Amino acid sequence: MSPSEPVVDLRSDTVTRPTPAMRKAMADAEVGDDGYGEDPTVRALEEAFAERVGKAAAVYVPSGTMGNQIALRLLGAPGTSVIAGQRSHVVAYEQGAFGTNGSAQALTVDDRTGSLDPAEVAWFVEAGGPHHWLPVSAVCVENTHMPSGGRPWPLEHLAAIASLGVPVHLDGARLFNAEVATGIPAATYAAHATTVMCCLSKGLGAPVGSMLAGAADLIEAARVERKRLGGAMRQAGVVAAAGLVALDHNVERLADDHARARRLVDAVGERWGACGLDPATAATNVVVFAPPDPAGLLAHLAAAGVRAATIAVGVVRLVTHLDVDDAAIDRTVAALRSSPA
Ligand SMILES: Cc1ncc(COP(=O)(O)O)c(C=O)c1O
Repeated sequence: MSPSEPVVDLRSDTVTRPTPAMRKAMADAEVGDDGYGEDPTVRALEEAFAERVGKAAAVYVPSGTMGNQIALRLLGAPGTSVIAGQRSHVVAYEQGAFGTNGSAQALTVDDRTGSLDPAEVAWFVEAGGPHHWLPVSAVCVENTHMPSGGRPWPLEHLAAIASLGVPVHLDGARLFNAEVATGIPAATYAAHATTVMCCLSKGLGAPVGSMLAGAADLIEAARVERKRLGGAMRQAGVVAAAGLVALDHNVERLADDHARARRLVDAVGERWGACGLDPATAATNVVVFAPPDPAGLLAHLAAAGVRAATIAVGVVRLVTHLDVDDAAIDRTVAALRSSPA
């Protein structure tokens, strides 16, 4: 790596820095006390997002984790289970919040294909109650599904699960990546969900914030839960302004991230063959694979000025985003090709 070359950070799409347009919008933002519902920029963001996903209302929350946790608290009742994928964010990557914030039990099912099997979910729903199994109060689905390489959900799986009559929470941290990759509007996915969470701080490039949308009464209850969790903010318009820019300007460009991720998928395939990565399923901005020597690869990439990380034992992840350009991908591809092991 030449000392003049910037580090390529592929650890996550959360590492982006606000664009000049975001910084300007933040500086100019009109603000008020959002605790009193008086921040006009937050309100504008909540309305814009609710409309974008076809829901009556939305609430701005500090993080995707908080959006998920609020939804679980609202939909999951004591003495019931909430079905979620074994490797999903709510189960694996929220530091056990599912078990400490919520009152429902997690019922985890296989999600290696990137979605949940509607027949398996239907079985658990039917088993709840009469057969002494816990009633299922909600199903949590993750679209795109990060641990399987950012796969978008097949719409028919989501529709089949929604048709079971149990509330569905959609962890759509990267829902707009799914929209851009499949051409299925975010609102069409969200129509099969009771609540939908989206992160503005991932592919969309905002510095902070996520949205939770749903029916008006549910979102009013979500505001109370947000307060309980300490997530009510005050002059949050300063950051919401960047969220509005993200929503208005950074959705279509996700296609560039996907094209760049595809180049990484091809390079990984050329270097290591399948290694847990099926090129046919790689559609968005997350590339996960199991090289023979993950620690060695991370060290080799670091020496070439490329930062990456593991997300599970032996599983390396590369994520493209707003701050990764073609030159950065050229360097990463070269580093992958020259990896000794
Ligand atoms: C699928 C998914 N859901 C939820 C989250 C949580 O978002 P946050 O980091 O804003 O808490 C993430 C973050 O990486 C994620 O990948």
